[in-house]
Amino acid sequence: MKKKNNLHPTIFVIFGGTGDLNKRKLAPALYNLFTEGYMPPNFAIIGTGRTPFTDAKYQDVLLESVNEFSRNGKAKKETWNTFAEQVHYCSTDINEPKTFENLKADIEKYQKKFGPETQVIYYLAVAPNFFPLIAESLCKYKLTQDEDNSRIVIEKPFGNDLDSAKELNLLLSGIFTEKQIYRIDHYLGKETVQNMMAFRFANSLFEPLWNRTYIEHVQISVTEQLGVGDRGGYYEDAGALRDMVQNHLLQLLCLVGMEAPINFDADEIRDRKVEVLKAMRPFRPEEISANTVRGQYSKGWVEGKEVPGYRSEKGVDPNSNTETFAAVKFFIDNWRWQGIPFYLRTGKRLNQTSSIITIQFKDVPHHIFSSGAAESWQQNRLIISIQPEMSIRLQVQAKRPGLKMVLNPVDMVFDYKGTYDTDTPEAYETLLLDVMTGDQTLFMRGDQVEAAWELVMPIIDAWENKKSLGFPNYHADSWGPESAEALIARDGYHWFTLPLKDKE
Ligand code: BG6
Repeated sequence: MKKKNNLHPTIFVIFGGTGDLNKRKLAPALYNLFTEGYMPPNFAIIGTGRTPFTDAKYQDVLLESVNEFSRNGKAKKETWNTFAEQVHYCSTDINEPKTFENLKADIEKYQKKFGPETQVIYYLAVAPNFFPLIAESLCKYKLTQDEDNSRIVIEKPFGNDLDSAKELNLLLSGIFTEKQIYRIDHYLGKETVQNMMAFRFANSLFEPLWNRTYIEHVQISVTEQLGVGDRGGYYEDAGALRDMVQNHLLQLLCLVGMEAPINFDADEIRDRKVEVLKAMRPFRPEEISANTVRGQYSKGWVEGKEVPGYRSEKGVDPNSNTETFAAVKFFIDNWRWQGIPFYLRTGKRLNQTSSIITIQFKDVPHHIFSSGAAESWQQNRLIISIQPEMSIRLQVQAKRPGLKMVLNPVDMVFDYKGTYDTDTPEAYETLLLDVMTGDQTLFMRGDQVEAAWELVMPIIDAWENKKSLGFPNYHADSWGPESAEALIARDGYHWFTLPLKDKE
């Protein structure tokens, strides 16, 4: 296999090595990086967990996961065997000092074998309450002091509110330098999300229009068909605002709203994004009900199968006040965006799984076509579809063929599938490679995370302090509560969706 880079030897230590995230995302991503020649010539993966596994048993567990979850399907035997030789297991109980002594011995063994330039990446794929203990123990056992060659990757949720996020940032910054800390928001690794930077800043066409003079409003809609499944325990303390809005949706908003960076440096780009968050108009308590909507799903039918309501899901309080749907109308108070609403919505058990960003442009200043000709009139829209369809559509008016002047909207489409014949990497492949190369562009900086928490805290406080009497307020397979339609209809708009290919 041809090596595509010359990275330093790397040891991946995965805390939570037997957990769901590792099985579904990390192991398949590392294996795919390996098969495509992106892993360094020398590497080792040390999975840790409480279950007592031998290396061989652990390798089997990972093989099953790769076979089930890899975008490339089942692993090829020979390639897998070569990969698996680098996979090891260290049985751990993170409350026991012995754990870190054993781990240190394992790491040192590889460092000796691979040489002094070996980098060690600690991936915390565990519940957030273990983050502090693991970070402190890594420090205590002197596993983190090499600033250039040790990194820590922290999964979301990064904190449960502003205070806990600040506390975690403080703790981490006492142990690591910021350049060692990789806070994951997996949306930033998605191909289409990365393309937004290319689209905005590698084309001269859009920038002159990208402002309050030409844009009427922006919608960011991330809808999911699935319910909370077996994550009820986690979700009860999170809800849609913490789970999706504070991180993924606000990151998308930053990409739409940011100023042009002067170069592609991680800090330059992250500075531009923080500026957006800082310019966002904070809510006063009395403004929350007019600008936000919360929802919770009741039971219903999805593709011919009856599905339970949120309050009947495993691990969920039968009187739960947790929202499974959130819609918010934000404003960015700066010269570019003054007065332009950004509508965000996300929810579970909705009618479609679809993540789209819609930029609606202002109407033409003067209509010259007759009302008959312009019956299906539609303002110009740019629709960036992140998933499942990966496309960018510019919707414009055109004349329908025929003897009369009749207009209708048509799409100018850039579709990944029709344009490229290569497969798109999974977000985690991109992100893991970036951690190895030391590129923090697609990771959240401490101040970004705090700015995003600061913005959503007034909504969280209002929703937590006042139980929703209307819950549940939308059916599974619907588009969410009616009040979410009203939120945007009051301003004269409606939520946009893309027809799903198989439903067209
Ligand atoms: C995660 C949330 O961060 O993102 C989940 O915790 C959500 O609740 C998921 O389902 C959505 O990610 P994706 O990549 O499937 O859109």
